[in-house]
Amino acid sequence: MTRETVRVPLSDRSYDIHIGGGLIDEAGALLKPHLKRPHVFVVTDENVFVTQGERLRSSLEAAGIGAAFITLPPGEATKSFSQLEKLTGRLLDLGVERDDVVIAFGGGVIGDLTGFASSVLRRGCRFAQIPTTLLAQVDSAVGGKTAINVPQGKNLIGAFHQPDLVIADITTLDTLPPRELRAGYAEVVKYGLISDAEFFHWLEDNGPALLKGDSAARVYAVKKSCDAKAAIVGADEREKGKRALLNLGHTFGHAFEAYFGYSEKLLHGEGVALGMALAFDYSAREGLCPAEAAARVKAHLKAAGLPAEIGDLKTSPSADVIAKYMMQDKKVEQGKLTLILAKGIGESFIAKDADLSRVTAFLKEKTGE
Ligand code: NAD
Ligand code: GLY
Repeated sequence: MTRETVRVPLSDRSYDIHIGGGLIDEAGALLKPHLKRPHVFVVTDENVFVTQGERLRSSLEAAGIGAAFITLPPGEATKSFSQLEKLTGRLLDLGVERDDVVIAFGGGVIGDLTGFASSVLRRGCRFAQIPTTLLAQVDSAVGGKTAINVPQGKNLIGAFHQPDLVIADITTLDTLPPRELRAGYAEVVKYGLISDAEFFHWLEDNGPALLKGDSAARVYAVKKSCDAKAAIVGADEREKGKRALLNLGHTFGHAFEAYFGYSEKLLHGEGVALGMALAFDYSAREGLCPAEAAARVKAHLKAAGLPAEIGDLKTSPSADVIAKYMMQDKKVEQGKLTLILAKGIGESFIAKDADLSRVTAFLKEKTGE
């Protein structure tokens, strides 16, 4: 099966993303050059441990690497202060040293928590990402954003901390629940919509095969997504400018995620899908983007089994409530909303000073108020 490597260009903190099928079985060999001693600490969740844990353990063993596994409960609630306290305490008890590599083996929840723990352990130890969800392979494992959630909001306590390497084995997706796969697919579509119309067209043709399990399509899509993210992160690691484009759909989407309490009722990727559809619809309403482009985006997301209209949700908050949640966005500057809008497919841009009353009027049309 095809193997790909994408480099994230960050001068002396540059690192590789290895993409392919069966890479977990080679993880020991890939990790070995990064280790100062033949021992790692693997942080994972119960679902990943059951479905993929043995493969990683054998691969490390075969490379002569000792491993301590720490298994946490699955789910968004694990990105918490209490789990951070337990995890860092456990790693210190196990004798983690600053030059050791802690491995985040799981989806975005495990990656964000483990990355953050690594950023503060002994004032910063090293870590590697072995992402096992599509969302993590194309987005959360790349770029160094790490965080936990607090009652005030999601991802509000965190740090930028880049991994030493990323190993994205697409065969891990074979055990991923289909709904989680579809949610991750929304983040793949995002890269086409931000800046690569050709990739979006490719997804229109090949998305169904990718979702069904076509390995070549998965490797290609993960590589294209990582190429796009690596270029943006390399140019703007700390989100002073163009990295905000990666938030396409997120300001609308987060509002719905917050309304549903960041629960199973709406997965992050599902919120992003709905948010991207709304961002295109709003762009069309404002005369910035052709209505056909917005319709095409919605049709593709719907065909992939993702929400693309507020009516696709079981219940919806009112427009005022959605707008209130949108104002909690991290991109709000001096009380002004920043949205990622589009001139067309592959032509997204950062719109500062978005007019909240126009956004609310748009949302009222969408909720039918
Ligand atoms: P997740 O980590 O909760 O994983 C989804 C579910 O799939 C979990 O139940 C998990 O146990 C299970 N799972 C994972 N891999 C599996 C596998 N191979 N086989 C079987 N089950 C498996 O969710 P996610 O969608 O990967 O990540 C969502 C999180 O990522 C959110 O907290 C979000 O804020 C964060 N995120 C971070 C960034 C970033 O840049 N740091 C970007 C996007 C999202
Ligand atoms: N997922 C958004 C970012 O990494 O910036």
